[in-house]
Amino acid sequence: MSPLLLFLLLLLLLCFSHDCDAQAPVFACDVVADSSLVAFPFCNATLHPLSRAQDLVSRLTLQEKITFLGHRTVQVPHLGIPAYNWWSEALHGVSFVGGGSRFSELVPGATSFPQVLLTAASFNVSLFELIGEVVSTEARAMHNVGHAGLTFWSPNINIFRDPRWGRGQETPGEDPILTSKYAVAFVAGLQRNRRDPHKLKVAACCKHYTAYDVDNWKGVTRFSFNAIVTDQDMADTFQPPFKYCVTKGAAACAMCSYNKVNGKPTCADPDLLSGVIRGQWNLNGYIVSDCDSVDVMYNTQHYTATPEDAVAISLKSGLDLNCGSFVAKHAQNAIAEGKLRETDVDKAITNGFTVLMRLGFFDGDPRNAGPYAGLGPNDVCTPQNKQLALEAARQGIVLLKNQDNVLPLKPGSISMALIGPHANATSAMLGNYNGIPCSYVSPLDGLSGHAETIYVPGCADVKCEGTSLDLEAAKAAAVQADVTVLVVGTDLSVEAEGLDRETLLFPGLQGQLIDEVAAVSKGPVILVMMSGGPFDISAQLANPKIKGILWIGIPGQSGGQALADVIFGRYNPSGKSPFTWYHESFVQNVPMTDMRMRPDPATGYPGRTFRFYTGKPLFKFGHGLSYTKFTHLQVQAPQTLSLALGEEHPCYSGNCKSISLASATKRCAEMSFDVRLQVHNSGGMAGSHTVLLFNKPPRLHNAPKEQLVAFEKVFLEPGQRSSVAFSLDVCKDLSVADENGNWRVPLGSHVLSVGDLKHTFTLTV
Ligand SMILES: *[C@@H]1O[C@H](CO)[C@@H](O)[C@H](O)[C@H]1NC(C)=O
Ligand SMILES: *[C@@H]1O[C@H](CO)[C@@H](O)[C@H](O)[C@H]1NC(C)=O
Ligand SMILES: *[C@@H]1O[C@H](CO)[C@@H](O)[C@H](O)[C@H]1NC(C)=O
Repeated sequence: MSPLLLFLLLLLLLCFSHDCDAQAPVFACDVVADSSLVAFPFCNATLHPLSRAQDLVSRLTLQEKITFLGHRTVQVPHLGIPAYNWWSEALHGVSFVGGGSRFSELVPGATSFPQVLLTAASFNVSLFELIGEVVSTEARAMHNVGHAGLTFWSPNINIFRDPRWGRGQETPGEDPILTSKYAVAFVAGLQRNRRDPHKLKVAACCKHYTAYDVDNWKGVTRFSFNAIVTDQDMADTFQPPFKYCVTKGAAACAMCSYNKVNGKPTCADPDLLSGVIRGQWNLNGYIVSDCDSVDVMYNTQHYTATPEDAVAISLKSGLDLNCGSFVAKHAQNAIAEGKLRETDVDKAITNGFTVLMRLGFFDGDPRNAGPYAGLGPNDVCTPQNKQLALEAARQGIVLLKNQDNVLPLKPGSISMALIGPHANATSAMLGNYNGIPCSYVSPLDGLSGHAETIYVPGCADVKCEGTSLDLEAAKAAAVQADVTVLVVGTDLSVEAEGLDRETLLFPGLQGQLIDEVAAVSKGPVILVMMSGGPFDISAQLANPKIKGILWIGIPGQSGGQALADVIFGRYNPSGKSPFTWYHESFVQNVPMTDMRMRPDPATGYPGRTFRFYTGKPLFKFGHGLSYTKFTHLQVQAPQTLSLALGEEHPCYSGNCKSISLASATKRCAEMSFDVRLQVHNSGGMAGSHTVLLFNKPPRLHNAPKEQLVAFEKVFLEPGQRSSVAFSLDVCKDLSVADENGNWRVPLGSHVLSVGDLKHTFTLTV
């Protein structure tokens, strides 16, 4: 037998034992294999996506339609439609979570970027977008070989309202503006089809709508949590990221959450779904439930009397797709019982199919034509993509303390005691919603290149419980080394989906490890925290032996390299904390389940996040040091601005304290103005700096004490000056939500600030 024949025979054998198509993309309308499909208008790529979807739906039986209500659809061979799994994830790289995407020998890994919270700390909008673009390119490359879907349920844009939240790591932090900008940029990076703006590269999904940020705290779980949210907090904290994600980001999907909001499950709330997302925000896409929140609504929340009622109320409220099988299972009965109409099902699946049309799923083999035809495994984990993962981690790392300018360390022949449960972290650097990374650079790998390292874990794992503490070896290393680097923090055993923290103190005996090692160390101690949220580090801040403190988030596959680059000064840290650092007393006094953002002086409730918190935090939102010194100069901004109201306006005579945005929109939109300043790198090292512009509105309507208005990151050589200009819109940037959740422009004194620079101006009519 010739070798070729033998090879073909082997291939054939393999095809019988495996699935031959496992390396082919999943797509519909394969007109090459079945020319009869050409006649179907839904296979005609020149027609409008909606009319194609409607044509397709008109050809399905009711039973077939119902199968498309769940995320795992079945094939419809007579129409050339294969089975499809809607559930893929790409929070910070293509993930295997959900099963719609996977890895194998053909695609052993994908670029694993830092967890979102660290990327957000870069405050670099072009970085957010670039990451989205790289992730979607890798997704398309994987799709072409049958390893990825096209519908990704990312990003998570809930507000990181409470530092204990186990999923804070997935989010862009506590501020609605930063979160909104992240959402818009990342979604653009994922979805933008450069050849055809009406088509999608992949479909993103804004989740979890809405006011969802308790996972499991002291027995209160997200499955039964009823978030009591005021109209005002809803308007200016919980909803803005979703609004931006859907309107400006044009995301093709929104996901409703498990929890109830003011007594109603979000997936069964017609005002939240049909009313706001589809009605006010004009979603061009589909609404999916969290997995499996319709089941939860019936079985856990007992919100409806029967499963059919849960299905009916969800679909009628505006749900289009159920992650899970509950809806598909009970829809037929719901229709038979008259609770649901076939047209409700049609509407739902038409929304889903329209997105698949825009994705090219019904355009035949994606390898034959279209902008992604040439992509394959070689486009995943490319050197450039891996470099971007490293770059993102570097840009996010936050320098919190640098006494006596201990950092950066001078590279050279120094010895380093590298201690702590994360000193050799690998998979912990990925966090949740991960895939398989291209490779890992652990802190040990990264730092070993620059110093003679003595590595001692100190504890067996991050929980660092009693018997696992190995103080003697850790202290012995610290006693002899020129410098001690402690890498501590959390991992998914401490904070995760379904697992909130109860304390801001370090897990287990990590605090003792830090203190005792610091006490005996010969050289300065650098404390490095790898985590998806803050700790109460007041003791470490006060400890004179601990000279440097870094927060490195959950830094992705190259986290150890990024850390080494910062410690040895090859990258000047520029990250700023995207969340407030509270004292432990905050979490001891404030129940995580209290959703109120605003303080309540009557009961001593301190409020939440930098916009409202009345206590003194360890570090404010936006805090982050550099190895150089940046100064801000010369604010140029108007002293007064007058809204020109018409005579007919009730506030014309100047008797109002604030103007309803609805009545003033046209006028204030014309009143954009510029705020200009200069940034000067007056230190000795090149670096990037984010200019954060805050506004302190007049004390009206229980407004935030200050709010982030805009930000811009600039790179400056030593001695260089650069001007930064923000163009502000009076309506959009200076308005506040009133007690009823209506937006108003407050008149009076506004104080703009950048760092120590302040500029007061007056807004009048
Ligand atoms: C696709 O639709 C266009 C526009 O209606 C039409 O001209 C064309 O003939 C259709 N293609 C096929 C193969 O039917
Ligand atoms: C560091 O972690 C990797 C991956 O878990 C492991 O293979 C390696 O042996 C560890 N290094 C040391 C020195 O323990
Ligand atoms: C923002 O990120 C991009 C992409 O990594 C990078 O090229 C740029 O230098 C960053 N901007 C600043 C000011 O650091």
